[in-house]
Amino acid sequence: MIVTTKDLFRHAYGKYAVGAYNINNLEQTVGLFRGNLGKFARNEDANDAAKSAPFIIQISRGARGYSDKRMLEGLIRAADEVFPEAIFAVHLDHGTEEVCYDCIDSGFYSSVMIDASHEEFEKNIEITKRVVDKAHAKGIVVEAELGQLGGVEEDVVGSVKLTDPAQAAEFVEKTGVDSLAVAIGTSHGAFKFTGKQGLHFDVLEQIQKSVPADFPLVMHGSSSVPKEWVDRINNAGGKMANASGVDEAQYLPAAKFGVTKINIDTDGRLVWCAIHREQFRDDPANFDLRPPGKVFMEAYARYIIHKNTVLGSAGQLEGVRAMLKSSGGCCGCGCAK
Ligand code: G3H
Ligand code: 13P
Ligand code: ZN
Repeated sequence: MIVTTKDLFRHAYGKYAVGAYNINNLEQTVGLFRGNLGKFARNEDANDAAKSAPFIIQISRGARGYSDKRMLEGLIRAADEVFPEAIFAVHLDHGTEEVCYDCIDSGFYSSVMIDASHEEFEKNIEITKRVVDKAHAKGIVVEAELGQLGGVEEDVVGSVKLTDPAQAAEFVEKTGVDSLAVAIGTSHGAFKFTGKQGLHFDVLEQIQKSVPADFPLVMHGSSSVPKEWVDRINNAGGKMANASGVDEAQYLPAAKFGVTKINIDTDGRLVWCAIHREQFRDDPANFDLRPPGKVFMEAYARYIIHKNTVLGSAGQLEGVRAMLKSSGGCCGCGCAK
């Protein structure tokens, strides 16, 4: 069942973070849905309520252009049918104004991100407000970004500018945005830190104090780039020197300070890369795409279960369903309520 991120944030705020995972293809989609229902091997396996989690599917502009945006939408529609118990939001990741409007008009996305963080403060407000007005008129929620993360994002290599807490308050008030991505030390990609850095909790705490109570904050660039997966890639012929990510032990402390959505893309790519490298290394005569695809879907589902456990979202799905039902929303049975 597709819901808005606002619905998910209402349940999570201050307690845990909802995982926001990027997808590009069929195998990622299947692994993602299975993992969020606490299962990994086959569609017929029973859901595991203790591991099941609400989640956010993110589609970047790059993902929309990889084949055709309608292909990904079709995959998600099919997954919603195959996994009717799942509760998730469909979110545009790092949208421009034009792409936001395309997603809003499509009627399929429940949430869009307008990323005008590279613009001057006033211009960012202006653009974000226009998108918010159009989205809200159709019941779609909006995430914006203030400050700048480092690393590679779409085709832009950026420099870091931490979010100013006072500006965050003004930005939220003037735009009417539903959630805000903040720069607190993370960056996109697999090479986030040199040495032992971490999140700027002092800045995060100030931002939380500045914005309205229970206002959801978003952390981009939050892959943990696990050493295990980097080692597996390198042991199977890869070359990823000095890869490093966010310490998973920092997710829940960040959630306590209002971070309600945590974006993970790179980790999924690492799992994909390790599995495929290993599969072709270990069976060089194979030319069939299905054997590695099958191993990947299972490994990715297991990884999602792990990730949701450290985010605190594992085991929260039935709580979200009950909340939606008690607030007059659909119970997940497909009724039109
Ligand atoms: O923030 C960027 C996301 O990781 C999406 O990456 O543009 O390569 O799909 P992509
Ligand atoms: P990572 O590169 O750390 O996975 O971040 C993904 C992201 O922020 C998507 O918007
Ligand atoms: Zn991002």
